[in-house]
Amino acid sequence: MRAVIADGAGGPEILSVGEVPTPEPGAGEVLVRVAAAGLNRADLLQRQGFYPPPPGASETIGMECSGTIEELGDGAEGWSVGDQVTCLLAGGGYAESVAVPIGQVMPVPDGVDLVTAAALPEVAATVWSNLIMVAGMSEGDSLLVHGGAGGIGSFAIQFATARGIRVLTTGGTPAKLEFCRELGADAAIDYHEQDFVEEVKALTEGRGVDVVLDNMGAKYLARNISVLADGGRLVVIGMQGGAKAELDIASLLQKRRSVTATALRSRPVAGKSEICRGVVEDVWPLVGRGRIRPIVETVMPLDDVRAAHELMEAGSHTGKILLTP
Ligand SMILES: NC(=O)c1ccc[n+]([C@@H]2O[C@H](COP(=O)([O-])OP(=O)(O)OC[C@H]3O[C@@H](n4cnc5c(N)ncnc54)[C@H](OP(=O)(O)O)[C@@H]3O)[C@@H](O)[C@H]2O)c1
Repeated sequence: MRAVIADGAGGPEILSVGEVPTPEPGAGEVLVRVAAAGLNRADLLQRQGFYPPPPGASETIGMECSGTIEELGDGAEGWSVGDQVTCLLAGGGYAESVAVPIGQVMPVPDGVDLVTAAALPEVAATVWSNLIMVAGMSEGDSLLVHGGAGGIGSFAIQFATARGIRVLTTGGTPAKLEFCRELGADAAIDYHEQDFVEEVKALTEGRGVDVVLDNMGAKYLARNISVLADGGRLVVIGMQGGAKAELDIASLLQKRRSVTATALRSRPVAGKSEICRGVVEDVWPLVGRGRIRPIVETVMPLDDVRAAHELMEAGSHTGKILLTP
């Protein structure tokens, strides 16, 4: 089959499309004919050699896809050849076919076409698992989402507002801030021009927010903690601003605040399967009712994988970038 091959580690120029053996579905897996694969920031890190796939996962980049089931492995019950699905992957998405454990296979939500469905698994699983499982958010809570116009951010704004959570967000350009407000954010803060700590304090009458969903890591650690309300939770999911920072434990202890960091990819199959069940139950109905819409910047052919990575690196996109084999 055709798949993206990385020649060592480095910039987008190391990527090309070539022939590799078609995977065989193992026990409890299905083989999916890929309709589209979603790009993720972690794909850029994997390409650079900083984020190797977990043991046993495909070496091919790609952590989510949509497609059609073409073969069933032993004991792969509950699915049939020909079913249209969307999948959370440990790797292997930038290809014509991928083997997927059945727990990570989900139906396509109502009202979403098969290609667009590739924009959903990673953002839905990341946002649902962090806001609901990890941070225990519920109606009436408040949330600060950094990078509200990105893939994760645009989904988090929609999901949280649909659950009755008040959302404040940050973004890098006036157009992106406007987009965040259109998605339902109560306020959007320009991270180049404004101090988000001052703005969040002013917008919450000094109380702070219950949860921060953070993509920046070290660079924002102290400031994120300072905008948490009493009992607030900082959930770090990215390290775009570095991995190492000093933590003032007193800033947590006095106000019973906590800091958690999670990665979806390294969770075992059972953990990913639990999250996929939660997504199908809690998130897909909101997508089916049009309360959450998949946000796609562009769909590009697999052969344009280098340009797709350059586009994500440039950071001018809004929502998801998809590749079709
Ligand atoms: N831990 C996990 O399981 C997991 C899973 C998926 C993704 N992630 C992480 O989540 C993050 C977002 O992923 P994505 O797919 O949504 O990528 P993306 O679409 O490229 O979004 C990146 C976002 O970062 C924002 N940003 C850049 N500099 C910023 C700053 N100084 N302050 C605040 N925001 C800033 C951008 O905002 P502007 O565009 O407005 O500049 C953009 O919204 C990445 O760090 C990724 O690694 C983690």
